[in-house]
Amino acid sequence: MRRPFLSLLVGALVSLSAQADGGMWLMEQLSQKYSSLAARGLQMKEYDLYNPNGTSLKDAVVSFDGGCTGEVISSQGLVLTNHHCGYDAIQQLSSVEHNYLEQGYWARTLQDELPARGVVVTFIDKIEDVTAFVQGQLRQLKGGTGMEFLSPSYLNGLARRHYSERYQRGQQGIELEIKPFYNGNKYLLFVKKVYSDIRFVGAPPSAVGKFGADTDNWSYPRHTGDFSLFRIYADANGNPAPYSEQNVPLRPRRWFDISTAGVQEGDFAMIMGFPGRTNQYALPSEITEWRDIDNTIRIRMRGLRQEVMLREMLADPKTNIMYAAKYARSQNGYKRAIGANWGVSRPDFLRRSEELRSEVERWASGQRDRKKGKVYLDGIARIEQAVAERAALRRQLWWLDEGLWQGIEAMQAPGVDLPLMSLERSFRSYCNKDYSPAVDAKIAKVLLAEYCRQVARADWPEELARGLARYGSVEAYVDAVYAGTRFTKEEGFASFTALPAAEQAKVLETDPLARLATSVRSKMRQLQKALQPFDSQISQGRRDYLAGLGLARAAQGGAGLMDYMADANSTLRFTYGQIQGYSPRDGVRYTVPTTLQGVMQKEDSTSWEFVVPERLKEIYRTQSYGAGKRWASKQADGSYVMPVNFTATTHTTGGNSGSPVFNAKGQLIGINFDRNWEGVAGDIQYLPSYQRSIICDIRYVLLIIDELGGARRLIDELSLVP
Ligand code: ARG
Ligand code: ASP
Repeated sequence: MRRPFLSLLVGALVSLSAQADGGMWLMEQLSQKYSSLAARGLQMKEYDLYNPNGTSLKDAVVSFDGGCTGEVISSQGLVLTNHHCGYDAIQQLSSVEHNYLEQGYWARTLQDELPARGVVVTFIDKIEDVTAFVQGQLRQLKGGTGMEFLSPSYLNGLARRHYSERYQRGQQGIELEIKPFYNGNKYLLFVKKVYSDIRFVGAPPSAVGKFGADTDNWSYPRHTGDFSLFRIYADANGNPAPYSEQNVPLRPRRWFDISTAGVQEGDFAMIMGFPGRTNQYALPSEITEWRDIDNTIRIRMRGLRQEVMLREMLADPKTNIMYAAKYARSQNGYKRAIGANWGVSRPDFLRRSEELRSEVERWASGQRDRKKGKVYLDGIARIEQAVAERAALRRQLWWLDEGLWQGIEAMQAPGVDLPLMSLERSFRSYCNKDYSPAVDAKIAKVLLAEYCRQVARADWPEELARGLARYGSVEAYVDAVYAGTRFTKEEGFASFTALPAAEQAKVLETDPLARLATSVRSKMRQLQKALQPFDSQISQGRRDYLAGLGLARAAQGGAGLMDYMADANSTLRFTYGQIQGYSPRDGVRYTVPTTLQGVMQKEDSTSWEFVVPERLKEIYRTQSYGAGKRWASKQADGSYVMPVNFTATTHTTGGNSGSPVFNAKGQLIGINFDRNWEGVAGDIQYLPSYQRSIICDIRYVLLIIDELGGARRLIDELSLVP
């Protein structure tokens, strides 16, 4: 009697833990996952989610402008993505008179939709497994670098030569790409349709779209309306075409229905999108390297830099504006690194990595044919060895990269190492309307001082050593560099370009900033070059390690590598889980959803991060939650609550921003825009109790379009389902 009971119990435990197993799955893994999806409540047919030979929900999911995800939400090609994903495009379209970032924008008619030049939206038309073909080609390859198995230019060359005829002939806007998965143990060909006439349709003011800004970034409880709207335009036949007045809104194959029913804790939730990069198969030594070198150095250098920036920004409103975006960019990676290290230091964090390694080791050393098993053991050894041997160089590179190269703006300065053609571009890349040489010099003093403390003199860029020897202190040297250069002011550069070529060359040889920047870049190149063989070793080692993992798994009766998730690589994935709050530490529990009341609680008119627009306050006061309060949740006592954000256990990463979050019926319930900082170590290993996707409730999006934007025309275009 006992046994079956126990196995039942074990079964229940397994399915419980499977409920929290994370994973960013390839579309073809849907078949494998389908029964567990159905068990959790999915009510869609498999082919309705993904149909390799027909239309399905995945056809409404697009890659937005390279780094983000978007979704088609109307029969007229309307695309929803994040405010922070549309940010650059919106900024490009803004001017002092029309500041769409600050004021928001709502196109009243199709004619008011503004061409967002340079933005592209990409559909994945077809995905084909080309593993056998690519591996055959690799085997025939003579010579080469040994790194072709991961090389985009090699793989895309294959795609061009062998698949162009089939997929591109007579077609407009089709691009082909072959991507490696499981570190070169699987290859998929993506046939992509790329639309380049994209128009800006609408966005809330930053006070809604970026509410909470840096303070709230990577954290929950959150109250951000992080969305913007664009539209895909096509030629009369629905094909991609460059911008033209003749183009018309695309009639897409598929778009999302939008649920206005509201969500509850425990509800099934699913996401499709284009996650950027994860490292799920890192060995323990790689994880500690990431923690102790990459993240630690980043935290140290950015912390110092941001401290100076913030002091300068708070002291002067003009500097505040000039450095806002730079500060935000720096802070985004900084906070992420802090969260990552917090995650890595959870007890047991390394255990999964250790277990995977032992699984391969056990299986490989148990092979009767010793030579056969050796490949995989060698793979592991190669990674371990490279990690150990590269530590000192990697540390040097990170101090240099985070500290000087990325930290000090003027390290982009012209120099003898750059082609003449690009001197102007290099100058303008930092010396523009947002540049203050005084602030940069202050940052340089702090960062150079720390760099000199951390790195041995023999390893400094030569010019730095020379300058310090000459001036005696970092302080004096930096003052001399910034006072003596032509490259921190427009006039200085103009006087440079006015010189004859021979004189220009002499200036580049003698200008103190040009000399320092050149020397820093040359040190960077030197270190990168020295590290490259280790990177190759690790990539090759990991290919073999993962191959071993797949075989070990198969030997236990599993499906091989396909039982695992392939590391994210900006290709289309799905992830699933449920809507759920979390408890980051004892005594604290975050709940879902947050509400408009929380926006009001955070309101602070003295902080640019927490300003609430007057109209939004009025909406709150008068409970103007749409006709019949249709965007709000009716409570048991008859009152109404306006939801804003919620969290889900879905496994997401950078690139998933803008991804559709949908319910068991495939109806849109929200738009993904962030994670909590306690969960970012999920890039290495999913942490069920900590990792959450942060999602904007679709009803808040609707409220803002409807009541703040007054854009009834857009609401009418949507397929709303009660
Ligand atoms: N943390 C979010 C994501 O990477 C949002 C970033 C935009 N916001 C910001 N303050 N930088 O990437
Ligand atoms: N905010 C991220 C993005 O821009 C999403 C994340 O890292 O979770 O893609």
